[in-house]
Amino acid sequence: MIGERMTGIMDYIDIARQIIEERLYGIRPGDLAAVSAKISNNYHSSNKTSQRLISDELQALVYAAVRMPATYAAVRSALEKSLMYNDINIDTVIDVGAGTGAASLAAADMFALGHLSLIEREDCMRKCGMEIFAAMQSEITVKAQWYDEDILNDNANRHADLVMSSYMINEIKLQDREIVFDRLWNMADKMLLIVEPGTKEGFEVISHAREYFLAGGMHIAAPCTHENKCGLDKDDWCHFSVRVARSRIHKLIKEADVPYEDEKFSYIAIVKDDVTSDGMCILRHPDIRKGNIGLRVCDSQGIRNTIITKKDGELFKKARKSSAGDII
Ligand SMILES: C[S@@+](CC[C@H](N)C(=O)[O-])C[C@H]1O[C@@H](n2cnc3c(N)ncnc32)[C@H](O)[C@@H]1O
Repeated sequence: MIGERMTGIMDYIDIARQIIEERLYGIRPGDLAAVSAKISNNYHSSNKTSQRLISDELQALVYAAVRMPATYAAVRSALEKSLMYNDINIDTVIDVGAGTGAASLAAADMFALGHLSLIEREDCMRKCGMEIFAAMQSEITVKAQWYDEDILNDNANRHADLVMSSYMINEIKLQDREIVFDRLWNMADKMLLIVEPGTKEGFEVISHAREYFLAGGMHIAAPCTHENKCGLDKDDWCHFSVRVARSRIHKLIKEADVPYEDEKFSYIAIVKDDVTSDGMCILRHPDIRKGNIGLRVCDSQGIRNTIITKKDGELFKKARKSSAGDII
């Protein structure tokens, strides 16, 4: 019902959010907060590549309530940037390590998808995501296909225009990551998007993917506008941020007063053909003043501060409307 009534007016993520809230209704906020704390503990533990991080249905639902809006926003932002100078048509998507399906909802909101496949090895996550998608009652979520597969052990011959993996590869042991890179790339007909937390650890995955795919002759659609060696210092990491409104239930579970959260993420979009824009990626919030704009950028000249003035014409107009993460 909700899907039929609301699709077209609300984004898929808002419909999913309502469904999750309905399902959590009646559970004491303190109990939800305790489940959320347990999940956070597991995610922050040092041996997370060798343990199950979410193991029952309530944990999966709490994960969905806490993480889906932020994951959705990060993936959507990364997709928007990746397609800025890369005009490809996306009809089919495979979401690997899909969890409860947040990245897929971002793709479904952006493209008129013909087919959506989700690969998830953890039963409780898959079941939770499938129930949310079914309850949304929209064509794409109802006909989406969920696969009980492990990307490392099952090598089904699937293909899609866009393959996405969000917040998953940091759960894969370092020695297995390149196997996963290959599997993901082999499924991608047009683009592979990898999104990871905007932390040093998350960026290590992105940086590893960058080196691996460039060495293999692939190209970067975003965020890098060049294919030279990454100019960041060893202890620094490249990340972006997106602001996400917190729902009532989110505030209760996280015991937070602030009405929003800033989701930090790192990402890379890999494509077959060279689409480098030759522009610059804006790394920090632009310092917009009268007649000039101060930018911290990354481009083929490296990472640097630059001032754009009215004399720069079109570039000045673009810079005035830009925000961190944009490619201009
Ligand atoms: C942190 S969650 C992220 C879920 C979702 N992509 C999102 O962004 O909200 C990582 C998910 O990847 C799944 N996963 C980890 N390793 C996997 C593998 N080898 N094959 C399939 N799924 C995997 C986990 O079960 C978990 O649901």
